[in-house]
Amino acid sequence: MTEAWGPDDDEPRRHSGPVRIRVPAKINLHLGVGPLRSDGYHELNTVYHAISLFDELTARQGDTLALTMEGEGAGTLALDESNLIIRAARALAARCRVPAHARLHLRKSIPLAAGLAGGSADAAATLIACDLLWGTGMSRDELAEVGASLGSDVPFLLHGGTALGTGHGESVSPILARPTTWHWVVALADGGLSTPEVYAKLDALRESPFPPKALAGADELMGALRQRDPAVLGAALGNDLQPATLALRPDLAAVLDAGTEAGALAALVSGSGPTCVFLAADAGHAERMAATLNDAGVCRDALTARGPMPGARMV
Ligand code: C5P
Repeated sequence: MTEAWGPDDDEPRRHSGPVRIRVPAKINLHLGVGPLRSDGYHELNTVYHAISLFDELTARQGDTLALTMEGEGAGTLALDESNLIIRAARALAARCRVPAHARLHLRKSIPLAAGLAGGSADAAATLIACDLLWGTGMSRDELAEVGASLGSDVPFLLHGGTALGTGHGESVSPILARPTTWHWVVALADGGLSTPEVYAKLDALRESPFPPKALAGADELMGALRQRDPAVLGAALGNDLQPATLALRPDLAAVLDAGTEAGALAALVSGSGPTCVFLAADAGHAERMAATLNDAGVCRDALTARGPMPGARMV
């Protein structure tokens, strides 16, 4: 794809600002983890799905690069050069040979270190915001190339929808299916998990006398998506990281059980966790399940969400 973000003329669009970008969280409907590669990543075969839990990034013209934030993680998340937003702005500026000047403000709803790709989402939003603010006229593919070096999930969060991810997750192909809305309950947990630690735990479990069974390919999941029946989709969901996440956070087993008891069609850890997600039959079912989980007090907060959602976009 070489589609540009600007209008259909030859000139890249340059916004005087402010530019406001909304970006979704992701879950993985299928997360097949292959062997550890020599570059420190694991080979993945995953089906990404963007859901209606959003961060919002606003970019304005400025004389330096500055970041402020509110919401989830405010006061905890470092806003310095280590922040993925700052790193994304600097990476785009370096690639396009423009000064990295912008005032950025993040309204964060996606929790940190939750297995929902919040950091990658913010990096994707930054790439689009700064591309528009600086008039750099990059295509989606060019932005995805810059994004892949920042986080494995950045290219997917530029695209959104439901998509197959391969390589270390950075290589994304959209899955074309008849439009269907899926309904989810997202159980947020107290505390976060380090993604590298979860992958390392999986490697250790795979070396143990009783290694967890690895998922087969994503074919069953892809077929289930085409059938548009939540019960069929529920039976096809799977996550190879789940045994590792549960080994690090055994308390999550009770969250998964509570969701199943509340009537979920499927219960699984989102990405590397600790967020758990539950598939519902419809919107009303999701609302009832979320209420039951909140009443049971097994998680920090149970939210409802829909998917698929578009990737990072100007609003
Ligand atoms: O790309 P991302 O920043 O999300 O990756 C964080 C870490 O998670 C990597 O440094 C690596 O330790 C682990 N990871 C992995 N295999 C992947 C993706 C991530 O081992 N496919």
